[in-house]
Amino acid sequence: MLQKYGVFRLLCCPVVVLFVVIGLISIVSAQAAETVAVIGTGRVGGALGPRFAELGYTVVYGSRDPSKQNVQELVELTGKGAMASSQSEAAQQGDIVVLAVPWSAVEQTVKGLGNLDGKIIIDVTNALRRRTDGYFEKAVPTSAAELIQSWVPGVSVVKAFNTMSYLVMADPSLAGGPVTVPVVGDDKNAKKKVQEIIEAMGFETEDLGPLLYARHLESMTVLHLTPLFKGGDGDLFEYYLRKRSD
Ligand SMILES: NC(=O)c1ccc[n+]([C@@H]2O[C@H](COP(=O)([O-])OP(=O)(O)OC[C@H]3O[C@@H](n4cnc5c(N)ncnc54)[C@H](OP(=O)(O)O)[C@@H]3O)[C@@H](O)[C@H]2O)c1
Repeated sequence: MLQKYGVFRLLCCPVVVLFVVIGLISIVSAQAAETVAVIGTGRVGGALGPRFAELGYTVVYGSRDPSKQNVQELVELTGKGAMASSQSEAAQQGDIVVLAVPWSAVEQTVKGLGNLDGKIIIDVTNALRRRTDGYFEKAVPTSAAELIQSWVPGVSVVKAFNTMSYLVMADPSLAGGPVTVPVVGDDKNAKKKVQEIIEAMGFETEDLGPLLYARHLESMTVLHLTPLFKGGDGDLFEYYLRKRSD
């Protein structure tokens, strides 16, 4: 009996190992095959693009002018097969689309990206405007994220990264300790996937609920921009969330 068991184990082990290896290869190649389109090549696009590339994603920047010198420099800095193309070409290639354009350009940009059904949009934007006295306020009663979802209902919008400076996005260690990225969205699977990516970038995440809560996350950023009114550069104080450790 024991001998039979030994033969069984001898035959079984290589088969199990083979299945595990095939499984691992398919997971790795599925991840490597994924493309992230980063729409907007400014501070946020330039901070997040290289972070996605570090994780093995192919990054395609979507720019109004992909041949611009700063865009080409960003492509080079990102490496790992990164490219730049028009906003719609990039979005069509991306499995995940990161929206990193100014609020004033969001509607036109999103509506010009073509059919994005089935893709995930990571919305980093904040629907804010400047008042006549220079201070900032919400530009809409709801949120950029909710509006984007209504303009392109076939996508899964996940709001993330909007509550922190692009400098911390690029290098979480600048915060001198853990940084929590609050994430909201209505598609649980998409939200989970985005959380896993953000965690792989070295952040903690917290699921703060449905997309409806994006309006609260966007409100939080109003005060961060106050230094701009006072003549600062908008990063005069650190701004991010950190979970309590006790
Ligand atoms: N800066 C931060 O720390 C921070 C933090 C959290 C969230 N956010 C949000 O993230 C979004 C992007 O912020 P950002 O600081 O990266 O802005 P930014 O430095 O001004 O870059 C925005 C990019 O969007 C593209 N774009 C498309 N249409 C545009 C238009 N009509 N006018 C200007 N640029 C246009 C441009 O890239 P191309 O020229 O290549 O098209 C531009 O480089 C904003 O909604 C902001 O509220 C910013």
